[in-house]
Amino acid sequence: MKKRLLSGIQPSGTIHIGNYFGAIKQFVDFQDQYDSSIFIADLHAITTVQNKSTLSSNILSVAMDYLACGLDPKKVCLFKQSDIPEVAELAWYFNCITTMPYLERATAYKDAGMKAKEVNVGLFDYPILMSADILIQDADVVPVGSDQKQHIEYARDTAIKFNNIYGETFKLPEPVIMKEVAIVPGTDGRKMSKSYGNIIPLFGTDEQIRKAVMSIVTDSKSPSEPKNPEECNIFALHKLFLKGEELENLKKRYKDGGLGYKESKDMLYEEIVSFIKPMRENREYYEKNIDEVKSILKEGGEKAKNNINAKMQLIRNNVGVNL
Ligand code: ADP
Ligand code: TRP
Repeated sequence: MKKRLLSGIQPSGTIHIGNYFGAIKQFVDFQDQYDSSIFIADLHAITTVQNKSTLSSNILSVAMDYLACGLDPKKVCLFKQSDIPEVAELAWYFNCITTMPYLERATAYKDAGMKAKEVNVGLFDYPILMSADILIQDADVVPVGSDQKQHIEYARDTAIKFNNIYGETFKLPEPVIMKEVAIVPGTDGRKMSKSYGNIIPLFGTDEQIRKAVMSIVTDSKSPSEPKNPEECNIFALHKLFLKGEELENLKKRYKDGGLGYKESKDMLYEEIVSFIKPMRENREYYEKNIDEVKSILKEGGEKAKNNINAKMQLIRNNVGVNL
């Protein structure tokens, strides 16, 4: 029996190379090894996206991104979260055993809370909905970027709490975090994020990618000066695309001096564009065959719902609402 893997991404904006290296690449690499379910976290996205056409088009866009990056619907159950309304039901059971101070400790809430005075209840409850996603599927492993690690701990804590109150119901999921790409920096050097406006879009046009690469922030050293590659935002991104000798050569050119930031950016642009070329071609196929994308999601949704039926009965039995 293969272990069960579950993960998802919110359809809350344009997918970027941080999402690819931090999350989607692992989903693809693991699809043979695990019994995988990958979903589009549309219920989570509603905490921030409250426009009908934007949400619908974002959902389809993430579905196409997944498929273009190499997720194979024959191997992976691909679905959208809202096709399993039981997730919201389970989140409610969890809400009733979760305290406010415990949720106030979530770092994502603290960040959002500091910026906006009035945070919506959905955003506050985000870790509990995510716990429901994970625990309803009996996931063994959850591959995510390191920023999501705390959320997996919420899922584990919530499972323990529920099991203590209602009896053994859930197993404890493990996070899987790829160390070397744990945080992909954005063009400003902070974590690349849809919400910071510092992304390099995974499926941008050549022009959009060039513009993003050229905007990467550097210090003001002249081309001839020696540079420390480990302090350079451009170099941090080269590391994702160059391996072994190629990377060593570049490192040497940084240290020796003579390599300007403009040249380094031009090289990075070429690396990105040639890396994504085959995926871009896949995506063009799905853009032209959107009905196929919709039917993949529909089938995945039905399968995912089937997978959780027995679990949901057990949960309702244990809570006491099944007579
Ligand atoms: P964003 O911050 O852009 O909104 P999400 O929170 O939707 O991204 O993250 C989707 C997935 O991609 C998560 O597993 C997350 O950990 C991963 N991820 C997001 N940004 C990065 C990054 N800069 N580096 C590595 N992984 C990332
Ligand atoms: N919070 C995750 C993100 O922002 C998305 C997500 C929702 C998720 N539910 C999940 C990831 C369950 C893994 C498992 O990327």
